[in-house]
Amino acid sequence: MTKRNIVVVGTQWGDEGKGKIVDLLTDRVAAVVRFQGGHNAGHTLVIDGKTTVLHLIPSGILREEVECFIGNGVVLAPDALEKEMNQLEATGLKVQQRLKISDACPLILDYHVALDVARELARGNKAIGTTGRGIGPAYEDKVARRGLRAGDFKNMVQFKAKLAETLAYHNYMIEHYYKAEPVSFDLLWEKCERYSKLIVPMLADIPNLIAAYNAEGKNLMFEGAQGTLLDIDHGTYPYVTSSNTTAGGASGGAGIGPNQLDYILGITKAYATRVGSGPFPTELDYNCDTDIGDPIGKELGNRGHEFGATTGRQRRCGWFDAVALRRSAQINGLNGMCLTKLDVMDELTEIKICVSYTQNGEVIMLPPASADEYELCTPNYVTMPGWNTSTVGTDSFDALPIEAIEYIRFLEKEVGVPVSILSTGPDRSETLVITDPFV
Ligand code: GDP
Ligand code: IMO
Ligand code: MG
Repeated sequence: MTKRNIVVVGTQWGDEGKGKIVDLLTDRVAAVVRFQGGHNAGHTLVIDGKTTVLHLIPSGILREEVECFIGNGVVLAPDALEKEMNQLEATGLKVQQRLKISDACPLILDYHVALDVARELARGNKAIGTTGRGIGPAYEDKVARRGLRAGDFKNMVQFKAKLAETLAYHNYMIEHYYKAEPVSFDLLWEKCERYSKLIVPMLADIPNLIAAYNAEGKNLMFEGAQGTLLDIDHGTYPYVTSSNTTAGGASGGAGIGPNQLDYILGITKAYATRVGSGPFPTELDYNCDTDIGDPIGKELGNRGHEFGATTGRQRRCGWFDAVALRRSAQINGLNGMCLTKLDVMDELTEIKICVSYTQNGEVIMLPPASADEYELCTPNYVTMPGWNTSTVGTDSFDALPIEAIEYIRFLEKEVGVPVSILSTGPDRSETLVITDPFV
């Protein structure tokens, strides 16, 4: 039997519907592996009308026969893990037995959150708009080789000494540079003693578990968080997250050779959204607090319930950006796209698609490398007719209105990648698999 390793990534600025699709496809995998990000993610699963939002735990958890792995590329906040496990276990799910965590996961501890919040305040109107979860500072500690890792919980004598050293270093910055409240060692240590009891039994050699399942011919799913334009290297820097959100991240962040990844599925919203600051050329600017701004931006936000699953912030909405998607297709090596939230556009009379940018008088087909250059870009649009018909829960491609088919075909042509799955509603059942990634 040949195994299939499927990588699911977001192709835009996050919140494309990754959680829904990972959950849908996990009926045929042995395990789902998270490989980057942390509890900045908010992945929504709707099954028979019941909603579950996952932040840190892989989106395979609702299928009882599936295991869930947290790979070394994930920054692990023990408090968030404890909370999410408790919530899921209260619904009767056995999480502890099915969740395995890499020893090499960098920990997010209270001082990372304090630093994240203090840095955002200090940036003033240049704030990134982070989720305030301590993600960036935890990755900084990893790269600076001073971070505490999940495996450090195995030796609490050493852990205590490392914690004291790292905290003293960070508290100096928090107190003297940012003029904020230092983090208490005693309170944090007390919590860490509790976390160690929770986490040590779940520690495992994730690369070896992955290899063992594959050797048995079993499929695996690699679940990305955030989206390609938030990638630390390829995104709209510095308005990005601090990890590689692109498909290559699955290899380094889980511990599997790149040649073992069989199919890269790019989850792509039928329009575009972004939460937090940073360039967004196709934005239809609308503010829900003042009810001022673009009426189509308002409609997309309202019909799509575009509010963050992690922070509750309003998501900025805009037209589909094929320029950004071309880059996404290129750097992820997309085999197929899953187009989500088509139904949100059901009542639009006209639809625009950004097909190129103009930068300093020159037409460009691929996005620039930094946020500064984005500021110099204006989008060029093609306009297509809307379909004014409900597509919710469509169960055959041919049954779609012709305008919707033409819209999908146009996106495929502009991006150069086929749509292999179509999502027309939040529920697991409201999905049409056109080409099965497992075959
Ligand atoms: P993720 O972070 O990529 O997993 O996406 P989120 O869960 O943050 O945001 C996607 C939102 O859209 C969630 O509220 C989903 O329930 C919802 N959703 C997913 N697919 C569809 C769809 O095809 N149609 C509609 N209307 N909603 C969808
Ligand atoms: P999922 O997995 C959308 C954004 C934040 C901010 C930037 C950096 O649900 O798609 P961070 O806290 O990571 O340092 O914030 O990245 N961001 C997301 N936007 N969806 C997400 O996750 C996000 N995770 C982080 O809003 O702009
Ligand atoms: Mg999300």
